[in-house]
Amino acid sequence: MARSASSALRLLVCFAVVFLAVAGNDSPLYSVCSTSANYTANGAFDKNLRKLTSLLAAVAPTAAGFAVSSLGSGVDAYVSGLAMCRGDVSSPECGACLATAGVRARELCPHSKQAVLWFDHCMLKYSDADFFGRVDLDPQIYIYNVNNVSSDPARFDAEVAELLGKLRAEAAASSLYFAAGETGIAQAGGDRELHGLAQCTRDLPRADCDLCLGAIIGQLPSCCAGKRGGRVLSGSCNFRYELYPFLNV
Ligand SMILES: *[C@@H]1O[C@H](CO)[C@@H](O)[C@H](O)[C@H]1NC(C)=O
Ligand SMILES: *[C@@H]1O[C@H](CO)[C@@H](O)[C@H](O)[C@H]1NC(C)=O
Repeated sequence: MARSASSALRLLVCFAVVFLAVAGNDSPLYSVCSTSANYTANGAFDKNLRKLTSLLAAVAPTAAGFAVSSLGSGVDAYVSGLAMCRGDVSSPECGACLATAGVRARELCPHSKQAVLWFDHCMLKYSDADFFGRVDLDPQIYIYNVNNVSSDPARFDAEVAELLGKLRAEAAASSLYFAAGETGIAQAGGDRELHGLAQCTRDLPRADCDLCLGAIIGQLPSCCAGKRGGRVLSGSCNFRYELYPFLNV
């Protein structure tokens, strides 16, 4: 995303997963729409954006859940987009999530030339500027479970950081830039397993995947201290941890 747009979008958002339960599958976890540059309905940008989101929704499921593409040329027509599905979702789920994302992008960000939408199973990002290959850490969205762990939050937080640190290294070393796993923990409340995932967009150089995950994992104390579950979402990487299994596999 262009630098100017980044500053316009600069925000850190905290809200609770409790509200997401009622939101349903078609609603993103979060969306960010720029207001610094707008397109006109049915103009060249709009048409290219429609084509691009359909293309990405068709291609990403056939390409292990990731695609980038650009269409058009010139200020009022050029659009580049990135689509990523969570590393464990099936091709049909991936395609369905990205198709929804394309529709929702137009509804939620009706004139924005830059937007990012995050869903459970996918994310979609588009812009009128080139952004491939660059780490995008602005904004970073915090999502957490409002409920706290029942005992010893300091120790729990250390266990979360340790698991995510391990997944960070695995993700950055893997071909899919994705890692998921679990670890045994000892919580007085009876919770015995901590589950996590970490993922980067595959346009990044490997070292930048590591850097991106390091930066968002560094947000744990601000986002998720003592929380039973949490995520940090950015345009280039994200992580999630929960006290229950949440992957499809
Ligand atoms: C884009 O549209 C939004 C919403 O209608 C508006 O607030 C904003 O000022 C517009 N931006 C520009 C650069 O025209
Ligand atoms: C969790 O802990 C925080 C900080 O101690 C507290 O403000 C908050 O009310 C707690 N939440 C619940 C749901 O008990």
